[in-house]
Amino acid sequence: MQITWKSPSNIALIKYWGKHGEQLPNNASLSLTLREAHTITSLALQKKRSKKDIELDFKFAGDQHPKFAAKLELFLSSLKNDFPWLNKNRLVLRSDNSFPHSAGIASSASAMSALALCLMSVERMQTGKYTDDASFLQKASHYARLGSGSAARSLYADFTVWGKTPVVKGSSDLFAIQSPTQFHADFHELQDSILIVSNQEKSVSSRAGHALMNNHPMAAQRYKNARKRLEDLLGALETADWDMFCKTVETEALELHALMMTSDPSFILMHPNTLAIIERIRFFRATTNIPVCFTLDAGPNVHVIYPYFAKKQVRNFIQSELLKFCHKKTVIYDQMGDGPSMLI
Ligand code: PMV
Repeated sequence: MQITWKSPSNIALIKYWGKHGEQLPNNASLSLTLREAHTITSLALQKKRSKKDIELDFKFAGDQHPKFAAKLELFLSSLKNDFPWLNKNRLVLRSDNSFPHSAGIASSASAMSALALCLMSVERMQTGKYTDDASFLQKASHYARLGSGSAARSLYADFTVWGKTPVVKGSSDLFAIQSPTQFHADFHELQDSILIVSNQEKSVSSRAGHALMNNHPMAAQRYKNARKRLEDLLGALETADWDMFCKTVETEALELHALMMTSDPSFILMHPNTLAIIERIRFFRATTNIPVCFTLDAGPNVHVIYPYFAKKQVRNFIQSELLKFCHKKTVIYDQMGDGPSMLI
């Protein structure tokens, strides 16, 4: 039996930063599901060959990867009560990303969601449960969350919300849901061009990063801001209020970095070229009135966000003015995606 899933990455427009309990978010976040940046993972069960509790044969992009394998073994071991077949079989797991491993883009969201989907597919076959898509995806989002919080949001198309909030009906801390807000046609095929400023791995792991929020002097204000911005963003998506959209998305990105800069210990994850790109995006927007803005992950790379109708002008602008700030002129052109799919 072999199961294969393709699952996308996502970029948060309202950031999740700070958690408690078992991977529970301290505020609700909202993300854009991507189309191009994805992981393909396949899982096959074979007869066990050893007495090892979790017998994992893992390859990433065709090669052994002891560091990832060790993490995966721990994760799978933590799930063996939920999936009793995990330690009764040899698990042959193969995984690959559509984007270069060393591109400096986090792959945990696509990787953990693809793995969760494989686990749920086997579980469905073994138990005959989760036959409807809704309960299947909800549970997959739950397990993706346990692997990496942001992965919970990769299970659905378009915009996804994770974290309980009174402003989104059906939202939960345990799993993400597709945003029920009817978004304006302007946002269909929303573009995300990822400018690779550096291909280095992050200097702060997200586990350590989230922990910095525990004693952060600005924590209470941060969660208040995130709540207000989620409302503002949902409103902007409904009415195509591009000014509000750009302001909210950029403030979220800068606040995430402000929190890291003012943590103890402090981290500055932007590079000089990150700031050079940000300045030029703001200047371009102010002088052309084209709605284009930026967001950042916990690193120096810049996600340039803009509507499909401005694709030509913004791509020209990226090519002529921003490419020079990128590592080996690398840009990944991505856009709103449809969520995961099972491959035969
Ligand atoms: O999913 P994690 O634990 O790697 O945390 C992700 C945190 C950010 O990427 C910085 C923000 C987010 O909401 O994706």
